[in-house]
Amino acid sequence: MKNNYLKKFDMTQKTALITGAAGLLGIEHAAALLECGASVVLTDINEESLNNAREVLVDTGNSERIICKVMDVSQLDSIQLVAEELAAASIRIDILVNNAAIDPKVKDGEGIVETSRLENFPLEQWDLQISVGLTGAFLCSQVFGSSMASDNKGGVILNIASDLSVFSPDQRLYRKEDLPEDKQPVKPVTYSVIKAGLIGLTRYLATYWTEQGIRANALSPGGVFNGQDDEFVQKLTSLIPQGRMANQNEYRSAIQFLCSDASAYMNGQNIVMDGGRSVW
Ligand SMILES: NC(=O)c1ccc[n+]([C@@H]2O[C@H](COP(=O)([O-])OP(=O)(O)OC[C@H]3O[C@@H](n4cnc5c(N)ncnc54)[C@H](O)[C@@H]3O)[C@@H](O)[C@H]2O)c1
Repeated sequence: MKNNYLKKFDMTQKTALITGAAGLLGIEHAAALLECGASVVLTDINEESLNNAREVLVDTGNSERIICKVMDVSQLDSIQLVAEELAAASIRIDILVNNAAIDPKVKDGEGIVETSRLENFPLEQWDLQISVGLTGAFLCSQVFGSSMASDNKGGVILNIASDLSVFSPDQRLYRKEDLPEDKQPVKPVTYSVIKAGLIGLTRYLATYWTEQGIRANALSPGGVFNGQDDEFVQKLTSLIPQGRMANQNEYRSAIQFLCSDASAYMNGQNIVMDGGRSVW
């Protein structure tokens, strides 16, 4: 790092593992960490999308600091296998970013609308989504957190939650005028439960391995603009004091802060970055 005052953001000796790294924000988290000199282990369920993510990141000239691993966060065996492969290559995970989630979009078609409503929300969907978004974060923390704790060299766990960890979805955002009440799309109950659960997990982890130098925080992003339809964007932005959705790269500096020594005395917190939506 050229500037002394940025020294605490230096992660050149660190390796970060990101779950769901091939997704919209996972790539951004990786880019943020690479920018600060960290090595990154990109993990996701799909090899092809991981390779695409690598391509995007390699363009920024960091190829030797990127490793890709197929890993399903809902399967303990899959996580343990990756942990063993990394250990065999003498790679220590210093930073874990629990980012993977299934976020079924609230939209017409594909049966998503009808099954998103609480009245008939399928148990299989409840189990599946919780197994990725919440159980997955628990399992990864169990495996990689235990490993960090075992050698007393410290570490950081960052859980990616959502502004919906601190307030309820405003279902009016998803309403379609021409649909009857029982067909109105809603944000599914799982999303709220998972994101609130992640904050509980964060607090638990924040106090569990403190003697081993491990701290845990959560980042709760607000909605990222990603080509959503105009009506939705207009309704949502009217609820945001800053009057706009986030750009996908706007969480990078928070990731850099929360994963580095710049936040050395921050522990157990949920940082809500939502353009002010939660205070209005
Ligand atoms: N995009 C937003 O507006 C927004 C806002 C607030 C919070 N978030 C949160 O940020 C995180 C990333 O969101 P995103 O927008 O990049 O979503 P995304 O859907 O683009 O990415 C999620 C990634 O998780 C992966 N995944 C799904 N199941 C998995 C499994 N079993 N094991 C491993 N990986 C699996 C997917 O393959 C995908 O690449 C999520 O936790 C999401 O809830 C997103």
